[in-house]
Amino acid sequence: MTANPPGHRLGVVGCGAVGSTFAYTALIRGLAQELVLIDTNREKALGDALDMSHGAPFLPPCRVVAGDYPDLAGCQVVVIAAGVGQRPGETRLQLLQRNAQVMAEVVPAIVRHAPDAILLVATNPVDILAYQAHKISGLPVERVVGSGTLLDSARFRYRIGQELGIHPRSIHAYIIGEHGDSEVPVWSGATVAGTRLGDRPPLGLSPEQRQAIFAETRDAAYQIIAAKGATYYAIALALARICEAILGDENSVLTVSTLVPQYGVYMGVPCVVGRHGARGPLPLTLSPEEAQALDRSAAILRETLQALGL
Ligand code: LAC
Repeated sequence: MTANPPGHRLGVVGCGAVGSTFAYTALIRGLAQELVLIDTNREKALGDALDMSHGAPFLPPCRVVAGDYPDLAGCQVVVIAAGVGQRPGETRLQLLQRNAQVMAEVVPAIVRHAPDAILLVATNPVDILAYQAHKISGLPVERVVGSGTLLDSARFRYRIGQELGIHPRSIHAYIIGEHGDSEVPVWSGATVAGTRLGDRPPLGLSPEQRQAIFAETRDAAYQIIAAKGATYYAIALALARICEAILGDENSVLTVSTLVPQYGVYMGVPCVVGRHGARGPLPLTLSPEEAQALDRSAAILRETLQALGL
């Protein structure tokens, strides 16, 4: 087993299903030398730290500790997963008021003790709360990142791969916009081995297949929440992927949530992710329909921000 890179420290604020699953994912993937877990329920954070620490003999060296905000000092990335999850049938935007208050408390405490950290927001509605975190923190845009539509793009690639019988890793396709009901599938840019998807086999999809694939991508969280109460595995993997790109200074292109200047909102767009955080958005080539759908997604986010007074 390779030892963890020296000095990588990750903070996790919020040890609910997403936060604790992310911490465990970061641990088994050897992303950091130390994980600092924070939760208002300190017993939960302590229990998670102890439970993960007992796996030490099977893992690369990593200290997992339950702490408080001062313990975040020196963390390169702090993942914010604090807040409540969607209730069955509840939209992410309906979550807003309950989680905006959480962010208003958590962000200043993080910045006070880890002023050099990159903030990675997972709490929903992630685009709104990442924007709020950016405003509250006063940090440069690139250092306040939302998980955005990275998970949606993964779901999109998974479903396209199922239809084509090709591994999702070889499907290049993006979902952009709101991480939510108004998200946008960029079919015009979907490719396999550099070839754009057509409308018939082996690298094509019928309109009915495209409609089904996107509907299942967009509505995946509702389906999973109805089945088991919450989603946490794939979002944890998406968060770990973002942390991996930051800590490894990869400069990989990921559809994370960042401020899109032409709209004045945070939304999922392709960004270059490295130790600086997220730089973007990269120029987008969209069909007229896709551009119109992105405008609509931005308008929904803008209205929500205005309702929140941001
Ligand atoms: C989901 C949550 C993370 O899409 O919003 O599963």
